[in-house]
Amino acid sequence: MTISIELGAKANGQRGVVDLEELLATRLLVQGNSGSGKSHLLRRLLEQSAPWVQQCVIDPEGDFVTLADQFGHVVVDAASCERDLATIADRVRRHRVSVVFNLEGLEVDRQMRAAALFLNGLFEAERDFWYPMLVVVDEAQLFAPAAASDADEEARRQSLAAMTNLMCRGRKRGLAGVIATQRLAKLAKNVAAEASNFLMGRTFLDIDMARAADLLGMERRQAETFRNLDRGHFVSLGPAIGRKPETVRIGPVQTEGRGGSPKLTPLPETHGDDAAGLIFRRGPEETQARAPAPAASVTDVLAQLAQARPEPAVPARIDLFADADRDAAIAGIMTEMMAEPDAGFQPISLLYQDFLVRCRIARVPGEPIDLPRFRKEFAIAKADLGEVGFASADWDQATLVAASLPEDVRGVFLLIAKAALSKAPCPSDGEIAKAYGTRSTGRARRLLTYMEERGFIACASDLRGNRIVMLPDVGWQTAPGPVDMAPVN
Ligand SMILES: Nc1ncnc2c1ncn2[C@@H]1O[C@H](COP(=O)(O)OP(=O)(O)O)[C@@H](O)[C@H]1O
Ligand SMILES: [Mg+2]
Repeated sequence: MTISIELGAKANGQRGVVDLEELLATRLLVQGNSGSGKSHLLRRLLEQSAPWVQQCVIDPEGDFVTLADQFGHVVVDAASCERDLATIADRVRRHRVSVVFNLEGLEVDRQMRAAALFLNGLFEAERDFWYPMLVVVDEAQLFAPAAASDADEEARRQSLAAMTNLMCRGRKRGLAGVIATQRLAKLAKNVAAEASNFLMGRTFLDIDMARAADLLGMERRQAETFRNLDRGHFVSLGPAIGRKPETVRIGPVQTEGRGGSPKLTPLPETHGDDAAGLIFRRGPEETQARAPAPAASVTDVLAQLAQARPEPAVPARIDLFADADRDAAIAGIMTEMMAEPDAGFQPISLLYQDFLVRCRIARVPGEPIDLPRFRKEFAIAKADLGEVGFASADWDQATLVAASLPEDVRGVFLLIAKAALSKAPCPSDGEIAKAYGTRSTGRARRLLTYMEERGFIACASDLRGNRIVMLPDVGWQTAPGPVDMAPVN
């Protein structure tokens, strides 16, 4: 049975097709500079072949997770199941489930390690499960780099070995590598050399063009044509595609990538003389909408320190009793709001509106606090200081550090600080998600990774896999706490 997958159209109007069975035996290499249309091409190939063959996408940027909705791929989030990758990969083969292996949010070394574990898991499946499978690797130079880099040497070795296995020894085990790279010169030679089919897109650098010409058996002069290719056009050659080099324009796709390049959109109608006013004055929408949240600088923190309690002078009209009452009333309203089961998940702008309404009902005197201040106070309320017994000076220190962090991570930072101060276990993914205002534990974990990459926290796990989080700025750490990973059965 011959299954032909239509990639797009050739210059002469004929269909540009790939023979799927032949592709399984002879593998494919795609090259093109960033923006040349490689990911689009891979998506087209995946969508067209989805009904016929099991697929695994190694996806460094989470571009392909959208295949799940329409084609039923299961998304394996590398960040959330690092320990079980080999087992999951084995089950993928056993049950013949198509998957997107999403490596988004991991730093390079961990991406390499995770990809190595997963690919090895696919490779080492028992002989009974060696069904054919397309293994598509986007940005393959990340996993099979030509030269040593800053990355951890051991991680690089593992991932290169796994990619070499995939491309050199995978065929017998049913694994057909389809790899895409921005630059051939950055991809390990032995990995590139095992593909017999090529799709070469727009390429600017001479060294990449020369290598592409070598692989395609073209004269180097001819390879100059790669420079002039349009986005979405690829020169194709190979036993599964065609016996002479021909340019194919890749056809449309059904699902959307999350990456892509910026699109120009028409500018709004001119604002006449008021353009300056628009950017220098506060607009009516700014009390409601989310204000931009620049990371606080050291100067900001110092300024906040200088202003720290007591609050800046109160307008003379309001007497001091009213002021104390006001603070208590505001604190009371926040506590009330926190008691609502959904409070943690509402967008801050909605919460702020709710807060303003409650202030009016409770006749809180004076000007209402503004959105940035509300956001800050609410984050602290969310961290739920409650009745825990630790020195308030310590808590003050924590809030001070929190104030120096980007606004959206403050709540989570304080939640962790609170656990650390009370020697309590590290909050679970669910608790962190709640403090972050989401129900997604995946987002919670990505937030932790983000915070760790920026040095706000450091995460570790104990022998049981419980998480410990350290706060380097204050030198505290939580007790080990379960992360609440979905159990893998
Ligand atoms: N054949 C095509 N038809 C229509 N749009 C395309 C085509 N190829 C690429 N694009 C668009 O061009 C942009 C860049 O393509 P992408 O596949 O992300 O490039 P790369 O992965 O090579 O960096 C994307 O917005 C994509 O949708
Ligand atoms: Mg891409």
